[in-house]
Amino acid sequence: MNDELIRSFAPLTNDVQDVLISPQDIQKRVAEIGQAISRDYLGRNPLLVGVLKGVLFFMADLLREISIPVEMDFIAVSNCTPETRDQGYVRVVKDLDLPIGNRHVLFVEDVIDTGMTLNYILKNLQTRQPASLDVCVLFNKPVHRLIDIPIKYKGFDLPDQFVVGYGLDHKEKYRNLPFVGLLKPHVIRGN
Ligand code: IMP
Ligand code: MG
Repeated sequence: MNDELIRSFAPLTNDVQDVLISPQDIQKRVAEIGQAISRDYLGRNPLLVGVLKGVLFFMADLLREISIPVEMDFIAVSNCTPETRDQGYVRVVKDLDLPIGNRHVLFVEDVIDTGMTLNYILKNLQTRQPASLDVCVLFNKPVHRLIDIPIKYKGFDLPDQFVVGYGLDHKEKYRNLPFVGLLKPHVIRGN
């Protein structure tokens, strides 16, 4: 089954070792989260905010599972090295288009690893005095967490492994895989 899925996305999957989460499991979980958001935010016209670009796939699928009025907006931050990221520095290169004062903001993230990036952005958004600010993450990697981030909606806990697909990239590639997979070790090592 996994082999068949990997083969059907060749040649993109020539460097993929295994499938960790199937497209069906992702879609099922996204639908459940969408239903929960629709219930919890009824009458509150929530604003879903994401960081480009990894969250694009999750955001698009999640929005189509939400059955109440909802708006979306994006910010973009500079790619920083793991060293600068661990010091908590993030440079915002594109800010939100919409004001968030008194809005119910749900921050949507593809993956949380150390939590440093998200912590910086949440602190920034909090200064704008939203009515509420909560976090929805599809893939959670608890092992490297440096800062505790309260998560309201969570898709999956991931093991301490580098994964690609459904928005997650390795050097900008593999985002368009419909599943979450593991790369062959030599690809991550770069040889
Ligand atoms: P952190 O939570 O500040 O450590 O940063 C999370 C960011 O690291 C995410 O937005 C991704 O860009 C990247 N990241 C973390 N783990 C993975 C992975 O397994 N695959 C691809 N990107 C990852
Ligand atoms: Mg990201």
